[in-house]
Amino acid sequence: MLSSEGKDESFFISVKKGGKARDFIMRKVCASDMKHNLAEMKSHVLEEISKVSTSEELDSVRVRYLGRKGEISVLLKHIGSLAPEERPEFGAAVNALREQVADAISRRKDELDKLALEEILHRDTIDISLPGEVYEIGGLHPLTKAMREVASVFSSLGFAAYESREAETDEMNFVKLNIAPGHPARDMQETFYLSDNTLMRTHTSPGQIRGMLSLKGKLPVRFIVPGRVYRRDPTDASHHPVFHQVEGLAVDIDVTFKELRGVLSAFMKRFFGQEVSTRLRPSYFPFTEPSCEVDISCMFCKGKGCSVCGGSGYLEVAGAGMVHPRVLVNGGYDPGKVTGFAFGFGLDRLAMLKYGIDDIRLLYGNDRRFLSQFRGL
Ligand code: DAH
Repeated sequence: MLSSEGKDESFFISVKKGGKARDFIMRKVCASDMKHNLAEMKSHVLEEISKVSTSEELDSVRVRYLGRKGEISVLLKHIGSLAPEERPEFGAAVNALREQVADAISRRKDELDKLALEEILHRDTIDISLPGEVYEIGGLHPLTKAMREVASVFSSLGFAAYESREAETDEMNFVKLNIAPGHPARDMQETFYLSDNTLMRTHTSPGQIRGMLSLKGKLPVRFIVPGRVYRRDPTDASHHPVFHQVEGLAVDIDVTFKELRGVLSAFMKRFFGQEVSTRLRPSYFPFTEPSCEVDISCMFCKGKGCSVCGGSGYLEVAGAGMVHPRVLVNGGYDPGKVTGFAFGFGLDRLAMLKYGIDDIRLLYGNDRRFLSQFRGL
């Protein structure tokens, strides 16, 4: 077909499908011919778009037709070779095709995105109705709780907390506390020796000496010594080779036995409850003179007598007394000028009474069924 200028005006639109070229012949013939070819091209392109299954494939279709050198874009370049009166119609038709293809691509893209999302959602299914994982929250060990409470009560009574060492010398654990070699009190405390002269402390009382020495004669002396102690006792419901004591010491001008009694009774009421009464019985300790045992009324039977208190209505919880003059001297204080009181109790026994624990071994077994009962208490 020749144009008015005599050139062959035929041109081809090449549409590649599956690698095979398919040619649409565009001729400057008539508008209907042209429309027919564009329509054929459109249905072919739309079919191709509907068949792509990934967004990469879709993108390459887009580039092939709509890219700068794409087949639809290229059509417009031929517009100049058409008869002037046919140009507007052809241009509009190509632009319409271009828009329809762009539309189809964008719709297909949405579809593919949706499919991809659905696939991800399907793959990573989360069942929000499943019960969540329960993380167990830990709690403080009953001995830690008791120790903190003891320290807090004594702090409110004006006592600082002094932490002394667990490995001690024979000198500090015994001699400075007025327990000379061969003293019968040594037999009462079955000792773990580390060497001839070193041992695991059998009580917190050496903390009295170390605490006083660290204060270098300053007054007042008012501290507790909480901590682990060690004894070679056979293990049973009330004995364990490691247990805990809290020592107390007050030294000042005119410290009296009456004040000792007041401090002990105030502590017991604060720790066990207001209904608990404290009773002192004469006793003997080498490092105190006079000495006493400290009993509290049994909180289980309210003093009537039960299996816990052995029918006596009282429970023995501590030893106490006025600091022996020799101990004051060993701590660097002048017994001619100052007096002092001291006390010592087993923390395990206090915790057992407070929480109703009947076997000391439970405190050292690390059985979580036992320990979990104290969570949040
Ligand atoms: N240290 C003694 C013991 O382990 C307890 C004790 C008794 C401590 C009387 C004291 C005290 O401070 O005055 O058996």
